[in-house]
Formats: sequence, C-alpha cells, structure tokens
Amino acid sequence: MRVVILFDSKTSGGATEKLIDSIGLKLAESGASVEKAKCKSNGDYSFVKNFDVVILGAPIYYLMVSSELLGALLQSNLKSCLQHKKIALFLTCGSPELMANILYLPQLKLNLIGSNIIAERIFAPGELSDQSVIAQYVDELKLAYEK
Ligand SMILES: Cc1cc2nc3c(=O)[nH]c(=O)nc-3n(C[C@H](O)[C@H](O)[C@H](O)COP(=O)(O)O)c2cc1C
Repeated sequence: MRVVILFDSKTSGGATEKLIDSIGLKLAESGASVEKAKCKSNGDYSFVKNFDVVILGAPIYYLMVSSELLGALLQSNLKSCLQHKKIALFLTCGSPELMANILYLPQLKLNLIGSNIIAERIFAPGELSDQSVIAQYVDELKLAYEK
C-alpha cells in the first residue's frame, strides 16, 4: 500500500505534523510505504496518481479547515486527481468531537462528494499523542483498503 499524507498547518512541527509522523510510523510498521507533502492551494497534484491511498489532514483555525488544504480542493487539480483514489481524512482541533463533526468535517466532505472515503477521524487535543487512538485510525484505514 502506497500512502501519501497531504496536509496543511501553519505551525511547523506543531500538533498536526507530530500526528502525521505518528500515523506515518504506524503505517510504515505495517508494511506501507508512506510519504508526506504539504498542501499549497495552487499546487499541482498529478503525483497523487503514484499512490493507492491519499490521507488529507489539517487543523482548524478560526472555525475553518486550514486554508491551503481547503484552497487546494477548491482551486487546484487536487479534486480531479483524487478520483478513483481511496481517501482518508483527519482533522486536529480544540473543539469537542460532536461539534467538529458538524462544523468542520463537512468542509472537507462537501468538496469530496462521490469520492471513496475509507476512514475519517477528528483528533481532539488529548488524543494527538494517544497511540491507541492513532492505531485505531490506521487499522480502520488498512481494513477498508483491503476490502
Ligand atoms: C489561531 C488558532 C485558531 C484556532 N481556532 C480553532 C477553532 O476555531 N476551532 C477549533 O476547534 N480549534 C481551533 N484551534 C485549535 C487548533 O485547531 C488545534 O490546536 C490544532 O491541533 C493546531 O494544529 P497545529 O499545531 O498543526 O497548528 C485554533 C488554534 C489556533 C492556534
């Protein structure tokens, strides 16, 4: 399984990047090859064709999914490059999960209607370094990929 994690964050080495490293490590331990790339709203995402699974992840700032990821979905060729791909989503935020599911996750999912989303997860602050929660997300992704 070849996985690329496309992410955005305004914080270099912050919560999102640390989480990505943990997710990447868990996937690599299970035999996947994993790369990560930071989103740019005007990027060229043709390279996504080289991967089986694309993980999209970002933090929430001021009630919105971080702008470069959202911008990439709205403005670049990312959405078309994701067609026929297996996609996993995650968000990091300070809000409770219920609120995040209602307010934040749809910002991504409305741009991915018709896509094959195989896993999704909100990581609350207390879960960012919780290895069991991260393992659960990775297991869900792997199971859905193998189906
Ligand atoms: C400037 C700023 C604005 C934020 N706004 C929100 C928000 O509106 N809703 C929320 O749930 N969390 C909010 N958060 C919390 C972040 O989403 C959370 O801490 C995230 O893990 C930060 O990721 P990062 O370290 O990669 O930047 C905000 C954090 C910052 C720094």
